[in-house]
Amino acid sequence: MTDSPIHDAVVERQTPRADFSIDQCWSEYTADEHAVWDLLYARQLEILADRAAPEFLNGLKKLELSRSGIPDLNRLNPALKAMTGWEIVMVPHLVPDDVFFTHLANRRFPAGRFIRRRNQLDYLQEPDVFHDIFGHVPMLANPIFADYMQAYGQGGLRALALGTLKNLARLYWYTVEFGLINSADGLRIYGAGIVSSFGESQYALEDKTPNRIKFSLERIMQTEYEIDEYQKTYFVINDYEQLFDATQQDFGPIYDRLKAQSQTFGTADVIKQDDLI
Ligand SMILES: [Fe+2]
Repeated sequence: MTDSPIHDAVVERQTPRADFSIDQCWSEYTADEHAVWDLLYARQLEILADRAAPEFLNGLKKLELSRSGIPDLNRLNPALKAMTGWEIVMVPHLVPDDVFFTHLANRRFPAGRFIRRRNQLDYLQEPDVFHDIFGHVPMLANPIFADYMQAYGQGGLRALALGTLKNLARLYWYTVEFGLINSADGLRIYGAGIVSSFGESQYALEDKTPNRIKFSLERIMQTEYEIDEYQKTYFVINDYEQLFDATQQDFGPIYDRLKAQSQTFGTADVIKQDDLI
């Protein structure tokens, strides 16, 4: 698709600070922009009730994201900060990797201000406020996941210095964006890319096509991903401790090993060591 990026006059008139943050200027969202949020929210909630991870649904409830309209950071940030010490900062567009990781390492989640238009409910060129807040923020209210996200940011700064960002970025992709969890009630979604997508929320759990493979850090770090179609493979965690624990080891030797093996798996590959679900 060749749609031009969505223009947001409130974003465009601002000069970002050194950390790329800008003001949300919540009072300047239009009634129609709030209505798009409400439409997306209602649509997602209907299909996520028995598909999203309990921790995600719990986060939505605790942060009162069901309140009508695009959330006001002046209200949302104090609530989130009281729960896990995280806050959201608005940014004008995708930010450079070092800026992104520095925010995460300091428990700040960068979010886009603009919201998609009514004629693009299911297509996004870059993450909007619905993806970033509805998709990511509920899980940041979970203490273990919140710690994992910070550890990821710290790991990102290190990976940048080591030249291993490609490996680490795959971890974000297959967990934070497209992760599934084995819950007491069966497979559930916690990845922001899935919970904020009407089609993929159903496909990720119910479609017969994609592989669902038990979480393996090194396997993920070797697996390519595609950004503009549904995933061909999902990785499934047992619990959030598993994610956080994975980041509590030195990635240096892992990167060395991956470099030495120099093996990459395609998005749909299944290998002998995979534990398929
Ligand atoms: Fe995202």
